[in-house]
Amino acid sequence: MADNTHPLDVVIMAAGKGTRMKSKLPKVLHRLAGRALLQHVVDTAATLLARRVIVITGHGAMEVEAALAHPARASGTNTPQFELKFVRQEPQLGTGHAVQQAVPVLPDDGIVVVLSGDVPLTQPDTLRQLIAASGGAKLALLTLAMANPTGYGRILRGGMAMQGAAQGNVLAIVEQKDATDAQRQITEIYSGIMAVPAVHLKKWLARLDNKNAQGEFYLTDIVKFAVADGVAVVGFKIDDEAQVAGVNSPVQLAELERVYQKRLATQFMEQGVRLADPARFDVRGDLHCAQDVSIDVNCVFEGNVSLGEGVKIGANCVIANAVIEAGAVIHPFTHIDGEKAGVTVGAGALVGPFSRLRPGARLGPEVHVGNFVEVKNSTLAKGAKANHLAYLGDAVVGERVNYGAGSITANYDGAFKHTTVIEADVHIGSNCVLVAPVTIGAGGTVGGGSTITKDTPAGALSVARGKQVSIANWKRPAK
Ligand code: UD1
Ligand code: MG
Repeated sequence: MADNTHPLDVVIMAAGKGTRMKSKLPKVLHRLAGRALLQHVVDTAATLLARRVIVITGHGAMEVEAALAHPARASGTNTPQFELKFVRQEPQLGTGHAVQQAVPVLPDDGIVVVLSGDVPLTQPDTLRQLIAASGGAKLALLTLAMANPTGYGRILRGGMAMQGAAQGNVLAIVEQKDATDAQRQITEIYSGIMAVPAVHLKKWLARLDNKNAQGEFYLTDIVKFAVADGVAVVGFKIDDEAQVAGVNSPVQLAELERVYQKRLATQFMEQGVRLADPARFDVRGDLHCAQDVSIDVNCVFEGNVSLGEGVKIGANCVIANAVIEAGAVIHPFTHIDGEKAGVTVGAGALVGPFSRLRPGARLGPEVHVGNFVEVKNSTLAKGAKANHLAYLGDAVVGERVNYGAGSITANYDGAFKHTTVIEADVHIGSNCVLVAPVTIGAGGTVGGGSTITKDTPAGALSVARGKQVSIANWKRPAK
């Protein structure tokens, strides 16, 4: 709350249909940077330390409410506590009617910020300034000058209104469909975002009617009432369109996704992260980068990802829910997804190209995992290597183990998963099958092509395959 004396309550309008998305999914649940549009708005309210967040639902109400009930914030981190309430608006009779539904759950002592669930990129700082402009007493409207204002509500100012942008007091907002030709020339538009003391808002909402071109209850009509009641109306003007841009179509969703990603990319570069191309960088969650991280083109980061000092990520990697420690190198085309269990890649480890690390993969320092190697729920101790075409599932792998090309831990018997233990300094040859549960003793060697079903002693060479036979002077059959 930017205002010391008034708690902040946020009303988010999210009852609209979103016809132009041409989707079964309610519009506000479409994802931007991996998070529902509405979640972005709720997270912004949380950042502002809102006391209460009231979401007005209508179209797809059940789905929208269910999606927010389990906060889908990819990060899951330090979102401050607030009270989340849903209010249904059925039918949808306009923005004024939408906010009217919130009145019963809106305390009188607060300042209310009205937001839309389909406007995801409003910056908390902008809203802080808007709240400050309201000062707990005035009606503050977030406005913007637009080269093409068609479709938006226009800000009517008194006196010198026609001569210049911010001149004159705000008298009213007139909607596109109700505007005269002269009013349509006005380029200052209402963004759809306002800050207003709850006591005033409630009083004015009660006075709305729907006698207008659209037969809707316009929230924007409260401006007239403020003027009539002698309450000051402030037009707080910004010039960053993306902050007030709504999503109505897949094209607009993709546009805002790019805006979001480019802004984030710029922030990372300002911190010192080297991005090969900020236009080919996608974060769908929370990414933390230490010093001297470099990221090549077309990488996607999801969930919680942390990259330690000097980490290098090659081109075309998808990395989700993982901690990559200092100096590790992830070569191109690697897929890492720790899901809930997480993945750790130790300091100085080399992974890829074309590796796959799955939940519970824990690679120690200087581990090497190469092309077409899959690791799931397995720990590889310092210096262990699995460089080619291999599977390690439910395995505990000791230091300096060398795990040969084409080898597999057979960890699943059709009903249960079992553990394979490969002790320190073991060499597993190529194309071995280690049938779990099984332990390969320290320093031991397993001959290529072996299927190991019993524990092997430390230091031993274990071979489990048909003995080689050579038949001298063998003649192939002839026709
Ligand atoms: C509204 C403003 C207009 C402003 C524009 C900015 C009004 C009357 N007009 O236009 O001045 O320039 O926003 O984008 O407020 N919604 C509901 N219930 C309803 C109607 C709408 O929840 O009954 C929600 C929509 O889902 C949307 C938001 O309110 O999230 C805004 O509605 P929309 O129809 O996009 O705004 P306009 O009326 O076009
Ligand atoms: Mg409308």
